[in-house]
Amino acid sequence: MIASVVTLEERPDLVEPMWAMPDTWPTFMQQDPIAALFYGRLADTFPEHQLLALDDQDAIVGKVHSVPFAWGGSDDELPVRGWDGILEQAFRDHERDQQATAVSLIEARVVPDHRRGGLSSVLLDAARRNVQRLGFTDLFGPVRPTEKSVEPRTPMSEYVARVRGDGLPADSWLRVHVRLGARIVSVCPLSMVIPGTLAQWREWTGMPLSSTGLSDIPEALAPVHVSIEHDHVVYVEPNVWVHHRLATPHSDSSRTAIDRST
Ligand SMILES: CC(C)(COP(=O)(O)OP(=O)(O)OC[C@H]1O[C@@H](n2cnc3c(N)ncnc32)[C@H](O)[C@@H]1OP(=O)(O)O)[C@@H](O)C(=O)NCCC(=O)NCCS
Repeated sequence: MIASVVTLEERPDLVEPMWAMPDTWPTFMQQDPIAALFYGRLADTFPEHQLLALDDQDAIVGKVHSVPFAWGGSDDELPVRGWDGILEQAFRDHERDQQATAVSLIEARVVPDHRRGGLSSVLLDAARRNVQRLGFTDLFGPVRPTEKSVEPRTPMSEYVARVRGDGLPADSWLRVHVRLGARIVSVCPLSMVIPGTLAQWREWTGMPLSSTGLSDIPEALAPVHVSIEHDHVVYVEPNVWVHHRLATPHSDSSRTAIDRST
């Protein structure tokens, strides 16, 4: 049960519990060099874009990280480097005083004990309303389709095209976005690039990675590229750009608090 959704700007006292939220990402997903540069700076630089869902004990049960960026208005401008690209762009735009015109989701996460209870839509809806409250009409996201890891060899373009009988995406996380009104824009094939030596990747995955070629790793959305000769492994994660086009905020709704009960 969510008692309220607040921004980190409203509740700066929650910065430590926000970072301490249980992290279920596999170890290799925590080795992205772009994340190492920028992820930890989200709280200081864009506190109004970090959302926290709280239960009635004031404990964090979910969060959404997002960043503002300068978007010229065309789909083609969305970086093929998806997650890495938009995180880099947001901080570059900020450092150059470039006016932000859109927002991109970076991560949505629900604490494990509260998963499968419908919180993801509540969080995403709160993110949409926060973006409107801040005066934007375009919310994007380089979405990581959650069930894609079951079939890493399937091209993302084929996976993303799969729909159920009701026309909604077969993938559950893409479905949450589309049900709230998002459109699927394109695959971003180079969304996260995670390079490492053989020793590093063996440590991160516990796998032998003993032959050159493609290798499947649990929870990866695509196989990793292994080179024994060159002592490296490279993971290139494809994601999917989605676009939530939002109504222009009314003058009174822009003052509406995003706290809500469900
Ligand atoms: C992905 C995540 C945010 C979903 O949050 P959630 O609150 O558990 O999801 P919900 O209960 O709102 O369910 C949303 C939909 O996903 C489905 N779903 C949820 N978990 C699922 C699972 N493990 N396998 C298959 N479907 C699942 C639900 O059935 C529902 O589908 P519906 O369209 O049939 O209603 C959550 O699992 C999470 O934090 N995962 C780790 C981080 C992550 O992967 N984030 C997304 C990429 S940034």
